[in-house]
Amino acid sequence: MGLPTTIAIDGPAASGKSTLGSLLAKELGYLYFDTGVMYRAVTLAVIRAGLDVAAEEAVGKLAGDVRIDVSPPSVDDGRDYDVLLDGEDVTWEIRADAVNDYVSDISVYAAVRKAMTDQQRRIAKENKVVMVGRDIGTVVMPDADLKIYLDASVEVRAQRRYDEMVARNQPSDYDDVLRSLKNRDQIDSNRELAPLKPADDAVVINADDLGILDVLEKAKELVYRV
Ligand code: DC
Repeated sequence: MGLPTTIAIDGPAASGKSTLGSLLAKELGYLYFDTGVMYRAVTLAVIRAGLDVAAEEAVGKLAGDVRIDVSPPSVDDGRDYDVLLDGEDVTWEIRADAVNDYVSDISVYAAVRKAMTDQQRRIAKENKVVMVGRDIGTVVMPDADLKIYLDASVEVRAQRRYDEMVARNQPSDYDDVLRSLKNRDQIDSNRELAPLKPADDAVVINADDLGILDVLEKAKELVYRV
C-alpha cells in the first residue's frame, strides 16, 4: 500500500488542526483545504447582506448563491491561501469577531451544509488532499485513507488562542476567549447534522501536553505506516 492520498483532520476550534493540516500538506505536497473558511465566508456574506442569522431560509439561499474560491496565496502576508467571496479577497476579514460569533449558528442549517459539503467533495475527488474541519472523517470523506481527530481541553485551547492574539497585538481577554470557545464547542458538538465527533475509525491525538511539532511527528508516523 502507498501513502494515504486523502487525509481528514477534524477537531474542535483552536485545537491546532489547521496548523497541523498545513504542515502535513506541505510535507506531502498535497492540497491543504481548511473547510472552516467556507462556513466563515458564508457567515461574512450573511452579515454584509444584513440578514438575520435566525432567518434559515434566506441564509440557506444565500449560501447556495455565493461563490467561494480558495486558491494559492497571492500576497506574502503570512496567509496559507486566498479566500475569495464572489471574487473579493476576504482572507483576513473572515477571522473577525463578528464572524466568530455567528459562524457556528449558520453552520447548523441543512441548506448551508449541503452547499458546502458538495463543493468539498468535489475538491476531495480532484486532488490529493489534507482536508480539515469538523465532519470531514464522518460525512465529507467517510472513505478517507487516514482520519485524525485532534483534541485538547478547552482551557488549553483558550490559552493558546489568547497567546496568539497577544502576539499579534490584538487586544483580548482570556475569559472572553474561553467563553466564546465553549459556546462554539457546544453548538458544533450538539447540532443534529454532522456534529463534531471523531469518526469510529479516526485516530485521536490529544494535544494538551504536545507542541505542534510533536503533533506533526505523530501524524507523520501515522501517514508513513498506513
Ligand atoms: O475551524 P474554524 O474555526 O474555522 O470553523 C468555523 C466554524 O465552521 C465552526 O465553528 C463550525 C463550522 N464548520 C463546520 O461546521 N464544519 C466544518 N467542516 C468546518 C467548520
